[in-house]
Amino acid sequence: MTPHIPDRPAPARLRWSAATSSLQIEGSRHADGGGRSIWDDEIAKPGRIRDGSTADPACDSYRRVEDDIAAVAGLGVDRYRFSIPWARVQPDGRGRGNAAALDHYSRVVDGLLAAGVTPFPTLYHWELPSVVEEEGGWLNRDTAERFAEYAAVVADRLGDRVSDWYTINEPAMTTLQGYAVGTLAPGRQLLFGALPTAHHQLLAHAGAAEALRARGSARVGLVNNHTWVLPLRDTEEDRRAALLYDLMHNRLFSEPLLSGTTPDLETLGLPALPVVGDDLARIAGSVDFYGVNFYNPTTVTAAAPGAAIPFEIVPTPGLPVTGFGPEWPIMPSALRDLLIDLRARHPRMPPVIIGENGASFPEPDTAGPVDDADRIAYLAAHIDAVGEAIEAGVPVEEYTVWSLLDNWEWTDGYTQRFGLVHVDFATGARTPKASYGWYRDLIARARSSRRTSAASA
Ligand code: BGC
Repeated sequence: MTPHIPDRPAPARLRWSAATSSLQIEGSRHADGGGRSIWDDEIAKPGRIRDGSTADPACDSYRRVEDDIAAVAGLGVDRYRFSIPWARVQPDGRGRGNAAALDHYSRVVDGLLAAGVTPFPTLYHWELPSVVEEEGGWLNRDTAERFAEYAAVVADRLGDRVSDWYTINEPAMTTLQGYAVGTLAPGRQLLFGALPTAHHQLLAHAGAAEALRARGSARVGLVNNHTWVLPLRDTEEDRRAALLYDLMHNRLFSEPLLSGTTPDLETLGLPALPVVGDDLARIAGSVDFYGVNFYNPTTVTAAAPGAAIPFEIVPTPGLPVTGFGPEWPIMPSALRDLLIDLRARHPRMPPVIIGENGASFPEPDTAGPVDDADRIAYLAAHIDAVGEAIEAGVPVEEYTVWSLLDNWEWTDGYTQRFGLVHVDFATGARTPKASYGWYRDLIARARSSRRTSAASA
């Protein structure tokens, strides 16, 4: 089937960006005194990574910073979203910070600024120092304070040149996949026992926001993964299962941040969140923007009576899929609908930034041109959906493609290619795909139409 590319122009007022995360691209995992993280522990577990790979060298980006900056600058994006790994900066999870690692990220910031791209770092993209996990990780309230201290250390070094920060990437994935079912690090299987990690991550974000603002940062936000939840069948049981999943994946995080409330877990028979004192007020005031990462909708059905988890995630019938197969159906209207729904639920919603959106497709491992029409169609349709949400009144300010480069996809190793730039992991060769030129041209057109409308205003 030829993918459909919408012919409506991209929203003229959006800022544009592309994203990566440190472990997924950098390699050199322990260079410059970098410490051990929960992903080193995960990689060491036999059979844990689908292709047996180790995230080293990945894209070798720790040593090839100039290449990445050139790729980012060539796109003409306004900003670049990259992450700074906590375990490199504070190998022991505390203290004044590892000067060599901070110097490295300082050079990244300088390089981006010199290339005319605004650096937009994420402070936590899943690389919890192992020592912090050993003391309970995100189950331990103290981790929130540690994270705020780490944020302060980074801001003291980079805050003279970085004004906007993402604190935590996708707390929902850490709670659900990291601590509840164990498909991501730290691989715990606590089911609903993972719920405290949701609150502690929001608290960590709030503490970091306070530390960053105290150091003059302009705007701080958290970026969560959002999905649009569909009941498989139009039955009371499936609707209830879908509601519960929506609560776990989306509302557990968006409600405290955007409305200062927590979903009522106890009436659903679940343990209450470990909220203490003014926690909710701190969390509610903590986002200057709200980050939304979106990939796919999720279809849910009621589990068999007596199952440990009362819902089951199933393939969404009738939709095309990405390289992950039925787990990742393609439904751009879901992004529009969830943005409109978020705005309706939260009248005081701050500006929204789409922090990640993209797809993997089967592509060759060896270097060469890639005509990724399927990725272009995916991105075009989702950008169009963002345009519809903006027309419906959702204050979206920025759109970010995941990812700049093919990279190391966590427990899926090198088996999923998400990049605008192809990476041959055997040689390090980088080749821009067709989608790279398409995104560059889309940004240039959107910018020139913004200039034309500003001139005629
Ligand atoms: C994560 C990325 C990941 C992407 C694709 C997001 O949930 O933030 O690190 O590579 O999804 O799976």
